[in-house]
Amino acid sequence: METVVSGIRSTGMLHLGNYFGAVKNFIKMQHDYNCFFFIADYHSLTTHPASADLHANVKQVLVEYLACGIDPGKSTIYIQSDLPETAELYLLLNMNAYTGELERSVTFKEKVKAQPDNVNAGLLTYPVLMAADILIHRAVKVPVGKDQQQHLEMARTFANRFNRMYKIELFPESFAFNFGTDLVKVPGLDGSGKMGKSEGEGNAIFLADSPDVIRKKVMRAVTDAGPTQPNQKKPEAIENIFSIMKLVSPDQTFRHFDDTYNNCTIRYGDMKKQLAEDIIAFTAPLREKILELSSDEKYIHRVATEGAAKARESARKTMSEARKAIGFLSF
Ligand code: ADP
Ligand code: TRP
Repeated sequence: METVVSGIRSTGMLHLGNYFGAVKNFIKMQHDYNCFFFIADYHSLTTHPASADLHANVKQVLVEYLACGIDPGKSTIYIQSDLPETAELYLLLNMNAYTGELERSVTFKEKVKAQPDNVNAGLLTYPVLMAADILIHRAVKVPVGKDQQQHLEMARTFANRFNRMYKIELFPESFAFNFGTDLVKVPGLDGSGKMGKSEGEGNAIFLADSPDVIRKKVMRAVTDAGPTQPNQKKPEAIENIFSIMKLVSPDQTFRHFDDTYNNCTIRYGDMKKQLAEDIIAFTAPLREKILELSSDEKYIHRVATEGAAKARESARKTMSEARKAIGFLSF
C-alpha cells in the first residue's frame, strides 16, 4: 500500500480553501492508502505565534480534521512536534539544501514581503522541514493545494540528492496529489486571488463560521458592475463567487447563475444570497461536529497520543536507515 503524508499549519481555523484544496482528499484517500495526517505546529513558529495561543490552535485543527471525517482508526493523525525524528531529519537535509535554491522559493519571497521584520532562517528552510515531514514516512503522494506544488518539487530534489550523496535508495519521489485533474485553488471573497487565513478580514469562510457570519462575508464579497456582452469571459474579480458556488452548490444552481451571467440578466445580490445558503448547508454539519468534539478532551487526548505512537514507529525506522547511510554508527 502506498504511503501518503499531508499537513496543515496550526495557525487557527480551517477555511473552505483548506477543505477543498487538501482535507477533502485526505478523507477519500484513507480507504486505499497508508495515510499520515499531521498538524504542522513547528511550521507555525515561522510567524511567531504567542505561546498562549499555540496549544488552542493545534487543538482546533485536530478537532476540525476529525469533524471533517479523518478517521483515526484508518489514518495516523499526529502533531508534528510530537515527532522529534522530523526535526532530526530536517537538520540532516539542511546540510544538502542550498541557500540559493531556497531563496528562489515563491512562498519565501512572499513571506519576505509580508513580514520584512521577521525574515528568520526557519522561513528560508520551510521547504526543508516540509520535505522532512514527507520523507520521514517515505510517502509518495501528498494531497495539497496548488500553492504547494513548488515545495513538492523541492522535496523531490532533497530526496534524490540524499540518495545520490549516500548511495542509497532510501527516499522515494513524492508528488502533489488531487483526485481531480488539477490541483485546486479556491479564491478568496475579497478578490485578492487566494482564500487564506493570513489574507484580509472577510477573505476566508471558516468551517466553524456561524450562519450569520457566513451571510455577512458572502454579501460583502467583491463583484463587478455586471456583464455587458453575452457570453463574455468572466473577469477575475467575480471568479470568486462562481468558483466557490461550483464547489458547494448543486450543479443546477451553478448552471442557472452561469446562464444568467451569459445572457446578462444576472443579479449578483440574488447569487450571493443563494451562495451563502449553500455554504451554510455545506458547513452546518461540520460546524456541529466541531462544537461537539471540542469538549471531548478525553477523546482528543487519546487520538493525539495514539497517533504520535504510530507515527514515531514509522519515523524511527526511516531515521535508523538515514543515520546509518550517513555514517553515524554506534560504538
Ligand atoms: P493558509 O494558506 O490559509 O495559511 P495553509 O497554508 O496552512 O493555509 O494550507 C494548508 C493546506 O490547504 C495546503 O495543502 C494548501 O495547499 C491548502 N490550501 C490553502 N489555501 C487554499 C486555497 N485557497 N485553495 C486551495 N488549497 C488551499
Ligand atoms: N506547507 C504546507 C502549507 O502551508 C503545510 C505542510 C507542512 C505540509 N508540511 C507538509 C503539507 C508536508 C504537506 C506535506 O499548507
